Amino acid sequence: KYPTKVRIVDVGPRDGLQNEKQPVPAEVKISLVHRLQDAGLKEIEVTSFVSPKWVPQMADNAEVMHGIRRQPGVRYSVLTPNMKGFEAAIAAPREEWPDEIVVFGAASEAFSQKNINCSIAESIERFAPVAEAARAKGIQVRGAMSCTVGCPYEGDISPDKVDYLARLMKGIGVQRVDVADTIGVGTPRKVQRAIEATLAHFGIDDVSGHFHDTYGQALANTLAALEMGVWNFQSSVAGLGGCPYAKGATGNVATEDVVYMLHGMGIETGIDLDRLIDAGAYISEALGREPNSRASKAIRTK
Ligand code: HMG
Ligand code: MG
Repeated sequence: KYPTKVRIVDVGPRDGLQNEKQPVPAEVKISLVHRLQDAGLKEIEVTSFVSPKWVPQMADNAEVMHGIRRQPGVRYSVLTPNMKGFEAAIAAPREEWPDEIVVFGAASEAFSQKNINCSIAESIERFAPVAEAARAKGIQVRGAMSCTVGCPYEGDISPDKVDYLARLMKGIGVQRVDVADTIGVGTPRKVQRAIEATLAHFGIDDVSGHFHDTYGQALANTLAALEMGVWNFQSSVAGLGGCPYAKGATGNVATEDVVYMLHGMGIETGIDLDRLIDAGAYISEALGREPNSRASKAIRTK
């Protein structure tokens, strides 16, 4: 009934660190990426090419992309909300280009305005040339869909809004999409309805779950998605993060906790949990706090 393997994108270096108030040196971010790939992660969301005025923590994007030592078979992705961001992402030599870019829209109009300063329709107009330029250069295109179950400004979001956004994303050549619960308010049935709406436009292999854990529902939501056959997920090592334009929202579900659950279910991830826990302990120590992962805590204090 459940998939036999799962692929995880660790979004810690991007989604996790974008919200940090304290400066995090580029070398620390680079070292985190290295530790994640050494732990067996095959996909890492490294940084974002957004306005440094909006998200100062990601201002070192080019330095981080330059500094990482690539491992064959690992996919490195970055966020690019517009052509300016895309051009910056490919300004470096080809070997420093991302393998995949992410355009990010929202199922909620209010969140779209707060996060990327434009309406949903306008965002799609901005993303279309980005998707086209990326594909022309052989770079994969992913679409993140925020607020697919709830919005900090509009409250509950109905599945038809997710259907609408997924259709627009498909129409501009986005190859796969993330169903994101940005503020972690979702519960299993609601998340399943958002995924169902997405599946009207994308195949099961091209839909991933991106669950923030604000209300402690993310693992349950992950299981609910697995039940539908979803086998791609995004999570954040040590449960880092949150979105700067989603006040009070905490980080993504901890990758450690997801991996512990999946391995316990006999589902393959290719990830070494002990090394992943070390990666989470490393970044947490650099930030001066404990990893926000129950599995990490339990295993480290055993
Ligand atoms: P804007 O102000 O509408 O853009 O911002 P603009 O085109 O009018 O440009 C204004 C200024 O920004 C100009 O600079 C541009 O050069 C500059 P100025 O002349 O004032 O000095 N600019 C840029 N600089 C660097 N890189 C760029 C870029 N574009 C314009 N790409 C924009 C639009 C999208 C840029 C802005 O709103 C922004 O950067 N927002 C930040 C959004 C963000 O990073 N949010 C967090 C990530 S999304 C997330 O976390 C959710 C997710 O995890 C899924 C989930 O959980 O829901 C993915
Ligand atoms: Mg997120």
